[in-house]
Amino acid sequence: MRRAPTLLALLLVGLVTACGGGEDAAPGGAGQDGVRLGFSQVGTESAWRLANTRSIEHAATNAGVRLDLRIADGKQENQAAAIREFISADVDVIAFSPVVETGWDTLLQEARDAGIPVIVTDRMVDTTDTSLFVTMLGSDFTAEGRKAGEWLVEHYRDRHGRVRIVEIEGTAGSAPANQRRAGFAEAIKADRDLQVIGSGDGDFTRAQGEQVMAGFLAAHTGIDAVFAHNDDEGLGAVEAIEAAGKRPGTDIKIITVDASRDGLAALAEGRLNYVVECNPLLGSQLMELVGKVTTGQTVPRRVVVDETAFDREAAKAVLHNRQY
Ligand code: AHR
Repeated sequence: MRRAPTLLALLLVGLVTACGGGEDAAPGGAGQDGVRLGFSQVGTESAWRLANTRSIEHAATNAGVRLDLRIADGKQENQAAAIREFISADVDVIAFSPVVETGWDTLLQEARDAGIPVIVTDRMVDTTDTSLFVTMLGSDFTAEGRKAGEWLVEHYRDRHGRVRIVEIEGTAGSAPANQRRAGFAEAIKADRDLQVIGSGDGDFTRAQGEQVMAGFLAAHTGIDAVFAHNDDEGLGAVEAIEAAGKRPGTDIKIITVDASRDGLAALAEGRLNYVVECNPLLGSQLMELVGKVTTGQTVPRRVVVDETAFDREAAKAVLHNRQY
């Protein structure tokens, strides 16, 4: 199976919003059968990540795509090595979810020199030459951070006096950490009383989220709210807050991102207060893009996943059939 030589010339420049909420029904018949796809995944840090990997494996099987999956254990150098192996193996398409935003230009140029199209998934790369990848499929992380901030603004609308917020950020340098922080900061500017008094790197894991939160509780009195960049960190924070003898969701409000089953269960129990969705079920959309790219069809430059947010009642309503 060879890729189309005029691929880049065929790209449709634009923004498309697509719904990623469904499970990975095989798109089928879109030209993916037998295509060799090299996919470099970030790691295994969160429930979101495990669901994303399963979704891609499942969709590849359904579409007849020959998937070479490499897990980078959160290390950019592992991703670089995997991508160079894909180039040496002359796969038809490379896809990857970059651990961090920067430092990809040389590698992307190597793929281009080899004539292999690259699809960026989940996390954006920061590059001066965006033609080095054919399309980007993933969430709008800035909007996710903004939704979290807007909930806090609304929640504290009638309160007078300072609201002390701590932020447990995602992996330093990653697109979701950078963009969620920015969206959140932008939203809480609407109320000068909302102040971030501490922030730390929770690396998107439950253990690190717990540790960072324990540090905040030791360093600050009167914390009102936590913005954790994913559910795992937020659930770690729940444990730290309980260990400190306080009630998560009551004494300290907690907002998270992902809307995994565990996150929504904690929200339904009242231990989290608001959860912004980030949908990991990107497999079928990725296989569809792979099929189009390898058959010279046009693809949008950016495919944004359609997402929502949950309060306690909304979480109770969907929990019974949450897929991740
Ligand atoms: O890139 C998506 C983020 O990475 C998810 O929010 C987080 O859970 C994951 O580890």
